[in-house]
Amino acid sequence: AALTRQLLAFSRRQVLHVAPVNVGEILREMEKLLGRTLGEDIDLVTEVAPDLEPIESDADQLQQVILHLAINARDAMTDPHFMARATAASRDELGHHLTQMRSRPKQLTISAANTSLDEAFCEKHVGVRPGRHVVIGIRDTGIGMPKEVREHLFEPFFTTKEVGQGSGLGLSTVYGIVQQMGGFIKVESELGVGSAFMIYLPLAPSRQAPPKPATREAPDSLRGHERILVVEDEEVVRNLTVRMLQTLGYETLQASHGPEALDICRGHSEPIQLILSDMVMPHMSGREFVDELRRVRSGFKVLFVSGYGSEDEVGGMAIGPDTPLIQKPFTRESLARKIREVLDNS
Ligand SMILES: Nc1ncnc2c1ncn2[C@@H]1O[C@H](COP(=O)(O)OP(=O)(O)OP(=O)(O)O)[C@@H](O)[C@H]1O
Ligand SMILES: [Mg+2]
Repeated sequence: AALTRQLLAFSRRQVLHVAPVNVGEILREMEKLLGRTLGEDIDLVTEVAPDLEPIESDADQLQQVILHLAINARDAMTDPHFMARATAASRDELGHHLTQMRSRPKQLTISAANTSLDEAFCEKHVGVRPGRHVVIGIRDTGIGMPKEVREHLFEPFFTTKEVGQGSGLGLSTVYGIVQQMGGFIKVESELGVGSAFMIYLPLAPSRQAPPKPATREAPDSLRGHERILVVEDEEVVRNLTVRMLQTLGYETLQASHGPEALDICRGHSEPIQLILSDMVMPHMSGREFVDELRRVRSGFKVLFVSGYGSEDEVGGMAIGPDTPLIQKPFTRESLARKIREVLDNS
């Protein structure tokens, strides 16, 4: 009957009864059952993060998953025939590992923690979506797996147990359930060392952090803490520039034209290390503004921003060849580089 149920479970997808589930609670509920299943020779260690987030899952199915992995772990630590049909390890080698295994403390560690999966991780693991997850780890100090077992262990009917001993359906069922929950399983194992199964399950959508703006951390060499005044008449460009600078660590001031910028500088007693100014603006050109500013303040550097595809315009302004200049549109990285160049060049 158990076999039939398992067969059904993986051939016809089960209906999941999904609700918020606290994995810590599930593990507490299972403690007795697990203790009995593992027997006296195996130590059960549970490590649940105190701030563990709830996941959206089917509690009964999740218990089945954990129980099955625990039973496998037990067998891997106690059953001398668990790897009976694993081919790659010669009998001698396997015998050696089994002897070693007997002298090791038998321990099953079940852990649960919050984790975040990023795009890069999800590109490498089919079927996972980036975002916040709970990861349940089930780690044993058993016989471990040779490569050819690791490669097939989720296949239905794959078993290394002796003929008539295992169905080989346990892990394929586990795999199906976890997939249905929107999660995935990662396995780390080495023959003679032990195995770890990591089950990643996504938090409920309402628990997912709002997507962060795509600001990858810039390397330290491109960051800075200086104060920069941005003078730019186009609001969209100005806001964008200010935001780029802030994500790079800079303090910012902003003005939409020269006279406003002069006002800001007069009212600002602290040093302003860099003026990042558009060339062409109403009321006053960038060049005029900077000349004016030099009368009232010193000790700042200047980086001019030239208009979209307007090399001529810049030429027409007759700025010297030494005047630092960056051309719109610029990326955060090219801006960051240019700024460091100007600020670090004494
Ligand atoms: N913790 C583990 N350590 C080492 N090998 C494992 C472990 N868990 C699974 N395996 C390997 O994966 C195979 C497939 O496991 P699965 O649970 O699907 O079937 P089974 O345990 O062999 O049979 P059944 O679950 O029906 O008793 C096992 O036979 C074993 O070779
Ligand atoms: Mg099994």
